[in-house]
Amino acid sequence: MISIRNASKRFPDPEGGVVHALRSVSLDVGAREFITLLGPSGCGKTTLLRSISGFEDLDEGTIAIDGREMTHIPPNKRPVNTVFQNYALFPHLTVGDNIGYGLDVTGCARDERNRRVGEAMELVGLAGFDRRKPHQLSGGQQQRVALARAIVNRPSVLLLDEPLSALDRKLRESMQLELKNLQHELGIAFVFVTHDQQEALTMSDRIVVMDHGSVQQAGPPTEVYDRPASVFVARFVGEGNLFEGELEARGDTLALRTAGGTGIVLSAAGETRRAGPATVLIRPEDLEMADDDSAAGGFASLAVEVTQTIFVGTDFQLVAALADGTPIKATIRDPSRTLARQVQPGAHIRLRYRLDAPRVLAPAASA
Ligand SMILES: Nc1ncnc2c1ncn2[C@@H]1O[C@H](COP(=O)(O)OP(=O)(O)OP(=O)(O)O)[C@@H](O)[C@H]1O
Ligand SMILES: [Mg+2]
Repeated sequence: MISIRNASKRFPDPEGGVVHALRSVSLDVGAREFITLLGPSGCGKTTLLRSISGFEDLDEGTIAIDGREMTHIPPNKRPVNTVFQNYALFPHLTVGDNIGYGLDVTGCARDERNRRVGEAMELVGLAGFDRRKPHQLSGGQQQRVALARAIVNRPSVLLLDEPLSALDRKLRESMQLELKNLQHELGIAFVFVTHDQQEALTMSDRIVVMDHGSVQQAGPPTEVYDRPASVFVARFVGEGNLFEGELEARGDTLALRTAGGTGIVLSAAGETRRAGPATVLIRPEDLEMADDDSAAGGFASLAVEVTQTIFVGTDFQLVAALADGTPIKATIRDPSRTLARQVQPGAHIRLRYRLDAPRVLAPAASA
């Protein structure tokens, strides 16, 4: 549906330098795909959306939508619509007129216009609200008006720039599910922008992780989470313990030796990097409390001293330190609430993990 090739965009900065907002970005979006651009503030997400919608011209590269090159096509002639973060409804117009505005300016026939406005309101769960003014709506309802306004002229692609960031957590979570359902019903592509990794994991068919204007990794949520391509991605998506050191091969296993002398053993299967400086990732949920130091059955363990335990609902977070002082976090399932009570700060315990749980990444400095 969208085909982006080597898109680059530079802005002059006030100090006379240049900001590389996009660096040779290439990306394809499928016709019914929910794709999320994820990355820290300033990494180029909005610039990429604005380039797709035509509000920004690329310095280099091309964008095709539905097989058509878009370079010389103005925003209003592209088969895309955008829901902006700051959705700016017209305060003096009713909900119905806000949604119908885009159809009115194109001279859509009255009956057709009313039918489509009704349909769009139905789709976003606002049936019956058409005579209200924006100030008579909640934040979530206003967001729905912005959505309805963007889908009323039936784009093939909907671009959404942090549309949920103004909403509180509960509303945000229910809108996440609604948005996914809406995308399903419309059968169109959504390009969604967020800097909230949880939101990206929940909603997307594919996540595109960006940093400093370039794509760091693009893949399904499970792949980005389980096999991050770099330390940056591992840090940005999910919680992680990252250990730096020298990697050595030992037959079927690898061992990372940290500067503090801790050895972290892991399976060599599926790892391409087998020696030299490396960073190893262990997710907190891959660690569990072990009774002894036996390394049988495809497990290994680490001796730690407990620093803190934090109750977070069904699980508790264990903050601990390796013998060399390196902090390590574990998420421990504890439905009976016994472990959290037993394990006090200062306790010496072992944390166990499956040998195939850790991931080897390029060393942090070169990532
Ligand atoms: N019109 C502009 N003039 C100069 N610099 C710009 C302009 N628009 C964006 N930039 C710069 O380009 C970079 C990318 O900006 P962009 O708005 O795409 O980031 P973003 O990923 O959307 O960030 P956020 O999460 O904060 O919205 C930033 O460094 C920004 O300061
Ligand atoms: Mg932005």
